[in-house]
Amino acid sequence: MVNILIFGPPGSGKGTQSVKLAKQFNLLHLSTGDMLRAEIAAGTDLGKRMSSIMSRGELVPDEVVIEMIANKIDNSTGMAGFLFDGFPRTVAQTAALEEMLNERAMKIDSMLVLDVDHDELVKRLTGRAELTDRPDDKDPAVIENRIDVYKAKTEPIISYCSKKGLYQPVNGMGTIDDIFERLSNKLSQLI
Ligand code: AP5
Ligand code: MG
Repeated sequence: MVNILIFGPPGSGKGTQSVKLAKQFNLLHLSTGDMLRAEIAAGTDLGKRMSSIMSRGELVPDEVVIEMIANKIDNSTGMAGFLFDGFPRTVAQTAALEEMLNERAMKIDSMLVLDVDHDELVKRLTGRAELTDRPDDKDPAVIENRIDVYKAKTEPIISYCSKKGLYQPVNGMGTIDDIFERLSNKLSQLI
């Protein structure tokens, strides 16, 4: 089993590329953002508690997403590996993931980081606000807060993973197909 982190700021294309890569390489796509939005859509207690945090662009508590991921890892068969999208988002989540994988004789194999200019991130997220009803895309101040939260709490994972030789930067600017090709080239070397 191969375990890949697809990493990058809000709007960098993690979700878009994960769907394509999961299909191409037979990976299970695990997006904590999608899981949380599904809880909200289903009207669960957890969804109700997380919804205001998400609409402000803040991170939900580590233990909530760690439990979600643990449940998924134990309920999957027949896949070549896992593609983690939007998780981990703090160094504490990273350490928890490593422990979870370790207990199952696995490890993080690579961290693919999409590099995208700030203005392009804002353009993509503002553009999506017109098409979908994600509350965290609607307000420009929330978009900026998500990017700030990424820099403060999530970006430190890059140096944590760099020390372990896992960091692989990928140019995230350009067309969806061009970026897919760059990511596929990296993944082909791992799978
Ligand atoms: P999450 O769902 O993970 O959202 P995010 O990180 O803010 O990122 P996005 O999903 O908005 O962007 P993306 O990188 O996936 O880009 P996408 O492919 O969609 O998290 C949402 C919230 O949930 C968090 O703020 C937090 O509250 C909570 N949460 C989730 N996980 C958590 C965790 N682990 N810990 C704590 N809290 C957590 O693309 C964006 C747009 O751009 C799309 O419209 C797309 O069509 C377009 N696009 C993509 N690629 C291109 C391209 N090459 N050119 C032009 N347009 C493009
Ligand atoms: Mg996403």
